[in-house]
Amino acid sequence: MKAIIPVAGIGTRLRPHTLSQPKVLLNVAGKPIIGHIMDKLIASGIEEAIVIVGYLGEMIESYLTEHYDIRFTFVTQEERLGLAHAIRMCRPHVEKDEPVFIILGDTIFEVELREVLQSEVSTLGVREVEDPRRFGIAITEGNSIVKLVEKPNEPVGNLAIVGLYYIRESDAMFDCIDTLVSRDIRTKGEYQLTDALQMMLENGIPFSTFPVNDWYDCGKPETLLETNEILLQNSESVPARPGCIIHEPVFIAPSAAIENAIIGPNTSIGEDAVIVDAIVKNSIIGTGSRVRHVMLDHSIVGHQADLSGEPYHANIGDFSEIKLR
Ligand code: UTP
Repeated sequence: MKAIIPVAGIGTRLRPHTLSQPKVLLNVAGKPIIGHIMDKLIASGIEEAIVIVGYLGEMIESYLTEHYDIRFTFVTQEERLGLAHAIRMCRPHVEKDEPVFIILGDTIFEVELREVLQSEVSTLGVREVEDPRRFGIAITEGNSIVKLVEKPNEPVGNLAIVGLYYIRESDAMFDCIDTLVSRDIRTKGEYQLTDALQMMLENGIPFSTFPVNDWYDCGKPETLLETNEILLQNSESVPARPGCIIHEPVFIAPSAAIENAIIGPNTSIGEDAVIVDAIVKNSIIGTGSRVRHVMLDHSIVGHQADLSGEPYHANIGDFSEIKLR
């Protein structure tokens, strides 16, 4: 069995951070998004992964090969025509009817994967969502899927497919994707994996669901910060820094220099960052960035950035009332 990890996307919703690095290398709770995913995959026994790269793919390839010791195959999706189109590129690297586990590169999850990977039928990770129009939706009877609809305009249910797919009949999946492409069947302009899976269902292939209650979206700045906050709750406490106040939970890279600062809660500070005379809470500060004389809340600062303010010099009379913004 192989894992398939599509990470060819541009990550437009996370610009400007994704202008210089791919979304999956953005840091949350002390490591890149894809690092959290790889740790889970490896813990569940995965030894081989096909990674579909495109935009800034060399950076992803370097990160994965430097940090993880499993067998990787990298394939390039030149044109970003949708998830099904991306998965199609993997066919030459999958044995006949070898099961595959597809996981989107921006989906951090808490699931007991070993059980999922022993399922007797193909199975999709689902959870209830408030905004079904953004997702592929599974209509179920008991634990069996009866229909799949990609980004429905009309309400059909709120059980969303959240980016974890264990597919036993991989040949049938690739055949259905080929059909989508040869007949140019697109939804919202893209070749959608949900549409290929629906075709498999119509051909009589059974699908079940498994619950993914802890699923953390990293697609937008707000959700990246929320995910950072949630993942930090499980982090170890960090050593005290002289002259600083630390409100856990935080991640502070050992090489970061922190001076006369208040850090946290819910804050990640990257390698070699320098924080001086500042308050930083609910934020992510990238590698090598410098933050001086500012108070930051719910902020994302990329790598090698420089953010500084000036301390106020005040001469304020008795009974004055002044609000600085
Ligand atoms: P998204 O729809 O979130 O796209 O893809 P994106 O490019 O990452 O982000 P936005 O929407 O522009 O902000 C979900 C996952 O599927 C991959 C993406 O890399 C991401 O991991 N994907 C999607 C591909 O690899 N190729 C595609 O053609 C589409």
